Amino acid sequence: MPALEMTDVRKTYRSGDSEVVALDHASLTLGDDEILALVGPSGSGKTTLLSIAGGLLTPTEGSVVVGGEEISALDAKRLTRFRRERVGFVFQAVNLVPFLTARENLLVVAELGRRDGRAARRRADALLDELGLSDRAGSLPAQLSGGERQRVAIGRALMNEPALVLVDEPTSALDTKLGEQVMELITSEVKSRSTAAIIVTHDTRMTHYADRTIEITDGVLVA
Ligand SMILES: Nc1ncnc2c1ncn2[C@@H]1O[C@H](COP(=O)(O)OP(=O)(O)O)[C@@H](O)[C@H]1O
Ligand SMILES: [Mg+2]
Repeated sequence: MPALEMTDVRKTYRSGDSEVVALDHASLTLGDDEILALVGPSGSGKTTLLSIAGGLLTPTEGSVVVGGEEISALDAKRLTRFRRERVGFVFQAVNLVPFLTARENLLVVAELGRRDGRAARRRADALLDELGLSDRAGSLPAQLSGGERQRVAIGRALMNEPALVLVDEPTSALDTKLGEQVMELITSEVKSRSTAAIIVTHDTRMTHYADRTIEITDGVLVA
C-alpha cells in the first residue's frame, strides 16, 4: 500500500480580492518506504504540499489518501489523531517548546495511553542517543545550537513511529557540512525504519539522499 496518494490536488488561497493558486492538479504516489525529495524555488508550493499531505491543510479540490485512508473525510478530532499517530513533522521553523528540555520535547508528543511513561522515556532516550544528543537531553532549546535543535526536532518526529515523515527545508538554516550531516541523519533514520518520507529542499545538492526527486514550479509537479 502506498504511504501517500495525492490525486489532482488543487489548493488556492484568498489574498484580498485575488486568488493565489499554490498547487494545481498535483498528483503523487509515494511508496511505503520511499524517500522523495521535493525541489523548487521559494513560493512554488512546497510547504503547501507537505501541509496537505500531513493533514495540516485541507485541499480545495482533490483526494489525499495516507496509508489507505482518505484524510479529507476525517473530522477534526480524527484528523488530530491521524497527525499525532501517523505523521512525523520536521518543519522549517523548528518549533520546540522553549521551556522544555530536549528530552521533554520528545516525551511531550508520546501518544497518551498507547505507551506507558516508562516505555516513552526509554524510546526518547534511545532516539536522543542515536541522534548524538545524550549529553544534551537536559538542555533547553535556547541552550542548543541550530543543528542540535534540528536533531531534537527529528527525534520528536520519529517518537510515535510515524508511517510518513514530512520534512520542510531541514538544511536551510545550516551551513553545508551541517546540512549534509542532518540530511544523512534524517535519511538513515527513515531508511532504518522502512518509513516513507518527503523532504523539501531548494538545495539540489541534497537530492542524492533521496530515492527519487520531483520538481515543483508555480504549484505544478514535474517528474
Ligand atoms: N496562508 C496563505 N495565504 C495566502 N497565500 C499563501 C499562504 N500560504 C502560502 N501562500 C502562497 O502560496 C504560494 C505557495 O507557498 P508555499 O507553499 O509556502 O511555497 P514554498 O514552500 O515553496 O515557498 C506562494 O505564492 C505563497 O505566497
Ligand atoms: Mg516553504
